[in-house]
Parts: sequence; C-alpha cells; structure tokens
Amino acid sequence: MRVIVCDNYEQVSAEAARIFAAQVYLKPDSVLGLATGSTPVGMYRILADMNKRGEISFKDCKSFNLDEYYPLAPDNDQSYRYFMNVNFFDHIDIDKANTRVPDGLAQDPEAACKAYDEAIDAAGGIDIQVLGIGQNGHIAFNEPDEKLICGTHLTSLTESTINANARFFEKKEDVPTRAVTMGMASILKAKTIILLANGKAKHRAIAELLDDTITTSNPSTLLKVHPNTIIICDREAYEG
Ligand code: PGA
Repeated sequence: MRVIVCDNYEQVSAEAARIFAAQVYLKPDSVLGLATGSTPVGMYRILADMNKRGEISFKDCKSFNLDEYYPLAPDNDQSYRYFMNVNFFDHIDIDKANTRVPDGLAQDPEAACKAYDEAIDAAGGIDIQVLGIGQNGHIAFNEPDEKLICGTHLTSLTESTINANARFFEKKEDVPTRAVTMGMASILKAKTIILLANGKAKHRAIAELLDDTITTSNPSTLLKVHPNTIIICDREAYEG
C-alpha cells in the first residue's frame, strides 16, 4: 500500500483527482468504481471542472457504485443514485445509461446482487475503485463482523454507521437500516484502489489500516492484501 499524507481536505481531493484523472486519461473507456459519502465530494468537483475545461472526458467510461440504501427509490433525495447525479454525473459528460448503482428497490435482492457482480465482470472489471472509510473501518457497507461476505449482498447497518449517517437525515429514525453493498471480494478485484480519509474521527480506522494485521473487525484492513491500493489521507486522520 502506498500512503499519501496531505495537509488538508483540499489537498486530499486534489491528489485523488490527479490519480483518478490519470486513469481516465490513459484509458478513456475505464470502468470506474465510485463511492458516496462526504469525503469524495471534493474530488468529484475537481474532476467535473477538469471535464468542463476539456482536460478529460468520461463519455466512454462505465461506472459502478459501491452501495445503495434498501429499500429506497432512486429518485428519493436520500438515495445514493440521487447523490451521484447531483454531485457528479449531472456535471460531466458520462452517459448516464452507463452508470450503475445497486437497485434499492430490487424485488429479488439476491438475484439483483448476483447480476450486479456479473455486470462488473462483463464490463471487464473495475479499473479504479474510489473508497471512503467508516469510523469503524467499514468499506462501503461491509461492517465489522466475524465473517464478511464476498460478493454484492443485502446487509444491515451497524448502530455506529446509522449514527454517523444521521447527519444527512432530518432525524436518526429516518436512516434506512439496510443497504445493498458490494462485498469485500468484489471490491478487492479492482485493479487500482484509492481510499480517501480526512479528519480525526477516522484516525483509529486508519491507524489499524496501516498496522501489520488483518481483521474482519476492521474490514478496511483486508486492503493490505491488494497489490495496488493508495491511501490518501490528511494529517488528522493519519496522526490523530
Ligand atoms: P464519509 O463516509 O465520507 O461521509 O465520512 C465514509 C464512509 O462511511 O464510508
């Protein structure tokens, strides 16, 4: 794992955008693995500006998002599909038909999850996967547990994640308690992974990610077996 320690959030966003843009520049038909949450928003903004200036184009890219609340409709303003449209897709030249977010309304979630993993494989696999990290070390909605599930699956959110995400909702009771998420094995298949983190609240999770142990009680530590992962974090997340 490579670690890039930045002075602040703006620098984290700029470094991440630089690596992401290089991927798209070198392979214009890249398969992008995208994340929601507050952390990647700065990177998306920079990439959208680069796109506007004609420096990179996403017109031949495909994308797959990590997760979606369940059950939640794509046009609900709390959905991750809505988040991606507003924070990224509406501002770039990607063909929205080529952007996928797990189906938050799937009648048969098991079949939908299997189809999602198959669609990623059929697209040639993810070239670059963007990740945030939870305060408890979760990656997407792969929450700390004794066992982690390999593929895309329906899961329950932990109390810690519900509390952390309550800031985006009117009240905590409104936070959905379930989600469809890519599994750790689906994520680890990505050719390049960039994990972004900022702020003191992420320090414990990042410290565990950077020590020399692997544990399912901090799912991010599985990234240590990945051959091409770059951690981009600010000094607060790095040093506490
Ligand atoms: P955040 O969420 O970017 O809003 O901190 C990250 C995550 O929970 O994975």
